Amino acid sequence: MTLTLTVNGQEHELAVPPHTLLLNVLRNDLALNGPKYGCGLGECGACSVLIDGMAARTCVLPVSAAVGHDVITLDGLASYGQLDPVQQAFIDAQAAQCGYCLNGMIITVRALLNHNAQPSAQQIRTALEHNLCRCGTHVEILQAARLAVD
Ligand code: FES
Repeated sequence: MTLTLTVNGQEHELAVPPHTLLLNVLRNDLALNGPKYGCGLGECGACSVLIDGMAARTCVLPVSAAVGHDVITLDGLASYGQLDPVQQAFIDAQAAQCGYCLNGMIITVRALLNHNAQPSAQQIRTALEHNLCRCGTHVEILQAARLAVD
């Protein structure tokens, strides 16, 4: 049995069991390494993607749940050689230490801006409060998010 998945604007026919985790399909079958495996429990956010513009955690989501929806990964945020403004803001703010969490941070900020173009500092903090950074660069990450809004 095959299923059709739309990722970064491209349709893919995939011969995978429908309960396969979306994270595994993205990384193993489509070689999209933006989403990271962190906790595997839906707790840290490292595996996040956009589904229809909203952040979703792919380590706990079966691929079948994404069929019929638009999946955008970090790899697909940039278009025509231009980084998404959120990606650029994270570079400009030098928000990374190890960088492992940044996929989830950037995807979460992009999802926030998709439905609120001018979030307050508190709304940014609330949006990111369930994304974990084990290096502790939260201050720089919040600065990057503010930069993406300005
Ligand atoms: Fe998915 Fe942590 S790896 S939320």
